[in-house]
Amino acid sequence: MAESGRGIRTILLGPPGAGKGTTAPKLVSEHEICHLSTGDMLREEIASGSKLGQEVKTVISEGRLVSDEIVCEMIKNNLSKPACQRGFVLDGFPRTVGQADKLNFMLKENGTPLDSVVEFKIDDAVLVERICGRLVHKPSGRSYHTKFAPPKIPMKDDVTGEPLMRRSDDNEESLKVRLSAYHAQTSPLAAYYGERNVHCPVNADMPAKDVFSAVQACFANKKN
Ligand code: AP5
Repeated sequence: MAESGRGIRTILLGPPGAGKGTTAPKLVSEHEICHLSTGDMLREEIASGSKLGQEVKTVISEGRLVSDEIVCEMIKNNLSKPACQRGFVLDGFPRTVGQADKLNFMLKENGTPLDSVVEFKIDDAVLVERICGRLVHKPSGRSYHTKFAPPKIPMKDDVTGEPLMRRSDDNEESLKVRLSAYHAQTSPLAAYYGERNVHCPVNADMPAKDVFSAVQACFANKKN
C-alpha cells in the first residue's frame, strides 16, 4: 500500500475476459480503495427485479452497451461514498468517449485526477476460451475458470462452498457483439487517455500474477 494518505485512482480498460475483474480485487486489497464495476452494478440491478433492471437485462444478454446516462449516474452516486475517498478502481467504465467526458467532469469537480488508465492488451482469439470457461460466485463476485483458475471442488465457491454459475452473456454469440462494441466504442479511449498522459498499456496474455505485477508498475510514479 502507498504510504501517503491515499491509495490510487485508476481505470481498468480492456475487452471482455482480459482480466479486469480478476485484477481489481487485488488492487483493492493492496491500496485500500473501492472497486466500482458497472457490470456488477447492472447485474445487481437486474437481480433486484427493478424496472431499470428489466430494461437493461436484454441489452446485456445480447452483449450491447447500456446507455451512457444510466452508467454515468451509477458511477456518480458511488464515487462520492466514504469507501471511495481514499481512491478507486473503475472496472468496465468508461466504455465510450461520452462516458469518459462525463467522468472527467466529475473528477475535476471532486479535485481527484486519475493516476493511471491501465489498458489490458490481448488478442481476441484468447478471449473465447477465457470467457466460455468462466465460473462466478454470484454473492461475492469471485471469479474462477474451469481450466486456468479452477475451484477446489468442482462448481463450488472455495470460501463458502456455495454453487458457482455462468453469466448469461458468457457465450460465443454474445462475446462477438461485446468484442465488436469494444473495438468500435471503447478502444478509442486508449488514445484519449494517451493524450492526457495517463495511459499505461500492459500485456494481459500472461499468468494472472504477472499481469498484476505489470499493472502495479503503472503506479510507480503516482503523485501524492
Ligand atoms: P462487464 O461485467 O464489465 O463485462 P466485460 O467488460 O465484458 O468484462 P468481463 O467481466 O467479461 O471480463 P474481465 O476483463 O473482468 O475478465 P475476468 O477477469 O473476469 O460488463 C457486462 C455488460 O454490462 C456489458 O457487455 C454491457 O452490456 C454492460 N456494461 C457494463 N459496463 C458498461 C458501461 N460502462 N457502459 C455501457 N454498458 C456497460 O476474466 C475472465 C476469465 O478469464 C475468468 O474466468 C478468469 O479466471 C480468467 N482469467 C483472467 N485473467 C487470466 C489470465 N491472466 N490467464 C488465464 N485466465 C485468466
